[in-house]
Amino acid sequence: MSARLASSSAPPAVAAAAAVAVVRLDLSDFRCYREARLDIDPRPVVLAGPNGAGKTNLLEAVSFLAPGRGLRRARLSEVDRIGGGPWGLHATVATLAGAVEIGTGRDAEGEMRERRLVRIDGATPRSQTALAGVAGVVWLTPQMDRLFLEGGTARRRFLDRLVYGFDPEHATRVAAYEHALRERGRLLRERPADAAWLGAVEEQMAGQGIAIVAARRELAAAIDHAVAEGVGPFPRPRLGLAGTVEGWLDAMPALAAEERLRAALAAGRRADAETGGAGVGPHRSDLWVRHAAKDMPAEHCSTGEQKALLLAIVLADVRLQAAARGVPPILLLDEVAAHLDEERRTHLYDEILALGVQAWLTGTDAALFAPLAGAAQHFRVADAVVTPR
Ligand SMILES: Nc1ncnc2c1ncn2[C@@H]1O[C@H](COP(=O)(O)OP(=O)(O)OP(=O)(O)O)[C@@H](O)[C@H]1O
Ligand SMILES: [Mg+2]
Repeated sequence: MSARLASSSAPPAVAAAAAVAVVRLDLSDFRCYREARLDIDPRPVVLAGPNGAGKTNLLEAVSFLAPGRGLRRARLSEVDRIGGGPWGLHATVATLAGAVEIGTGRDAEGEMRERRLVRIDGATPRSQTALAGVAGVVWLTPQMDRLFLEGGTARRRFLDRLVYGFDPEHATRVAAYEHALRERGRLLRERPADAAWLGAVEEQMAGQGIAIVAARRELAAAIDHAVAEGVGPFPRPRLGLAGTVEGWLDAMPALAAEERLRAALAAGRRADAETGGAGVGPHRSDLWVRHAAKDMPAEHCSTGEQKALLLAIVLADVRLQAAARGVPPILLLDEVAAHLDEERRTHLYDEILALGVQAWLTGTDAALFAPLAGAAQHFRVADAVVTPR
């Protein structure tokens, strides 16, 4: 474990919190930050400052409190400060059970440059999935503006991340399924006659695959239901999942659907050997979203409408997580305020305060956050220096 992940001084004393919130964040060699410390409380955090100041980098740092590659999906070595060493960060997170210390960073020592080290309260968890058990982290970034216009992969990933907030094991299943999918592809190339081995891999894919689709469907349906209460001035989205496996789950019990998927994979070996993929499975599902009032697919809505639909989905997810876990997740909203009209912005702030969620809000114009006043903590970010306002 790199010494960089160790906290340089005693962590702040934190009583059991009413929300999951970062109360201290220490960065070293993280993007534009050589060393930075942020001492905060569970209120929302506003980061305002010019372009290139380091606002999104701070949100990215918080996103590493969740399993995975962070909100930029960067390679770990890209996060190293240029000219600096391997990045590390340390956070004190207030939770219902008291303060939890999280350290994470790129492995400084091993051969594996792309390995992320994680420590929770000084111990190394079996997998970084354990992070999801400490705090949920949900984000909305400008890159996601294209979510409805891109292929299904980005939408599946978006939904899967939301599922992790309820069931961290979903991440393990998705990783195991993808591993098995690649393994089957390799077998079809190298040992196409090995029916026993292929059968074993396909059985695993079918089991994981049905569990993955069922979890996605359950959350999409829950969000579809939750957005009905409390979108305020945001357009109400309808959402659901489309795909072959989804159709089976509509028509038959999960065990029968699992057998159907296993049989379909076995029957598809020859065709799949040619394409290198698999013709059926949860990797082909798609999340569809429609603007309910207009009865229009999200991809045909205006840019602002698409953003508002996404925000309504994310806020519904935060409400659901708050209900399921007893506390809402940490919410990272990069450059969201500037894209909303005043009515929607006010509603967003009201909702954030009503939920008691530690939302991290960025923007170039500090004036947009004035309505939050003392309900939030305001920082100016300029040239990688963060100062309270
Ligand atoms: N690995 C790195 N090492 C050093 N600097 C980096 C690294 N990666 C990115 N940067 C720089 O960090 C700076 C801040 O980036 P960031 O995305 O946080 O800005 P921002 O405040 O969100 O700006 P904007 O308002 O334009 O979104 C940028 O100038 C960027 O070039
Ligand atoms: Mg930014």
